[in-house]
Amino acid sequence: MKIFETIDQITRFLSEKRASGERIGFVPTMGALHDGHLSLIRLAKADCDLVVSSIFVNPTQFNNPEDLKNYPRMPESDSQMLAEVGTDVLFSPAVSEMYAEGFGTLQDVDLGGLEKVMEGAHRPGHFKGVVQVVSKLFDIVQPHVAYFGEKDYQQLAVIRRMTEQLGYNIEIVGCPTIRESDGLAMSSRNLRLSAEERKVAVKISEALKYIQTNWKKKSPEQLIAEATQQLESTGILKPEYIEIADAKDLHEVRDSNYSKPMRAFAAVFCGPVRLIDNISIS
Ligand code: PAF
Repeated sequence: MKIFETIDQITRFLSEKRASGERIGFVPTMGALHDGHLSLIRLAKADCDLVVSSIFVNPTQFNNPEDLKNYPRMPESDSQMLAEVGTDVLFSPAVSEMYAEGFGTLQDVDLGGLEKVMEGAHRPGHFKGVVQVVSKLFDIVQPHVAYFGEKDYQQLAVIRRMTEQLGYNIEIVGCPTIRESDGLAMSSRNLRLSAEERKVAVKISEALKYIQTNWKKKSPEQLIAEATQQLESTGILKPEYIEIADAKDLHEVRDSNYSKPMRAFAAVFCGPVRLIDNISIS
């Protein structure tokens, strides 16, 4: 696996590969890798000639400085995992390389309101930071295909929209959430959970499953209230939101007879750690 830390080096390397007709697949990450990330690399490998991954903890998408400070960083084991799964190129720039001119003004991309609900409403500026860094990475890597996990479903929707709005000729592939054996969605943030928090964290996916199983049997409002109660009764989990929304434009759904694809979403504090998850309803 080749490792590049500067934009200049990776750009030169990839332009030769592109010129020789290789199909480039890209998996951007913030490191602290788990099987969810590796599943994206495996999909990319099956479909592309050259797989590029990046590890960059992007400061502009963190609305909470403590979250940025505490975000797990483990560069050695990450690069070993990437090499083992067959990644061809790792791009791991320093903040000063990515933001040599400072953080700049964030690009004003029309995200059609996708950035205003759920994560957007609770993490002001988060999606602007995601759009800023992903568009920068797309400009550097210029992949043919880029892979993102459905665990961050709203991010995936925002990136699809950004790709369209900015006219990138990049196929965006959304990949299923990978879960621990008890159902907890894999996340780098799970590393920060205490043993007790880890045990109750499974209730998040259970609450979403409860909504999925009981859809149409009870009203959406009642399902949300019951799921909230299931989480709060642990004494450790504090839901920030539980939402049911259209799978495409993410607008809130409050009609049991809604006929288009929908998903249930949750953001929940598990002790000090904020976790998100989502599941399809129909
Ligand atoms: O999902 C992530 O890890 C990040 O938001 C991403 C897409 C790598 C941008 O920093």
